[in-house]
Amino acid sequence: MMLYRLLLAAIWLVVIPVLADEISPVVKEKAAICMACHGIDGNSSNPKYPSLAGQKSTYLYLQLKDFMQGRRSDPEMSTMAATITDKAEALELAKYFSSLPAFQRDTRAPDAFQPAADKISVGKALYEKTICAMCHGDAFTGMGDVPRVKGQQPLYVMKQLKDFRDGKRTNDGGSMKGALGPLTDEEIESLMHFIAAQ
Ligand code: HEC
Ligand code: HEC
Repeated sequence: MMLYRLLLAAIWLVVIPVLADEISPVVKEKAAICMACHGIDGNSSNPKYPSLAGQKSTYLYLQLKDFMQGRRSDPEMSTMAATITDKAEALELAKYFSSLPAFQRDTRAPDAFQPAADKISVGKALYEKTICAMCHGDAFTGMGDVPRVKGQQPLYVMKQLKDFRDGKRTNDGGSMKGALGPLTDEEIESLMHFIAAQ
């Protein structure tokens, strides 16, 4: 694990300065504001806020566009999206966050959410039955433009699953609502435990 962490640190040292050169100062300043909620390196440490680091760039861009145009809404995030100047800026923000090293389970804080064995096994059965992997890839690492869910804040994941199910988040074109079907709160919670164990 030590070597792994050193490797991550080395990637940071090499990659970040290069990226910092490519991104315009205006977008850099804006990204720093985003990091107040989404984490200083794009990896959130607050269960309410999703991590953005390592997420699919196209997915991040489409979400920003949806927040900007009102197809997805959230009291905090909609307010923030309104401060994004135009689609070009949204695209640059998406590229920037996508390029940051993704949240790794091994670097989680010791007090982070710990998945429970009994719920993991219920979640695994649902994961197989609902063929999540067909769209999200094995272990939720993301596939094509379908988002990565591995390493995402568990409570955020649970909220999204309930929002899709309850029709509160509809910007997925129906793909998630269709996939989830009529899951109970307990089943959604088990899926969250399974995802957190990936
Ligand atoms: C005050 C806190 C706050 C700030 C600042 C903030 N966000 Fe968010 N953001 C949120 C919340 C809360 C959500 C989740 C909303 C929900 O539950 O659907 C979110 C969701 C997102 C998502 C969707 C992630 C996903 O996995 O679907 C993206 C992309 C995003 N924010 C980008 C940004 C960018 C870029 C900025 C800076 C311009 C920013 N955010 C600033 C609170 C914030
Ligand atoms: C038919 C394809 C498909 C299947 C099957 C599917 N998903 Fe999704 N999922 C998507 C798409 C597409 C999105 C992005 C929607 C959008 O653009 O807003 C998504 C979004 C999500 C999100 C929100 C991610 C975020 O950052 O906000 C979560 C969580 C999620 N899926 C979990 C699951 C789980 C758990 C399963 C299995 C029970 C599953 N998905 C099955 C296509 C699928």
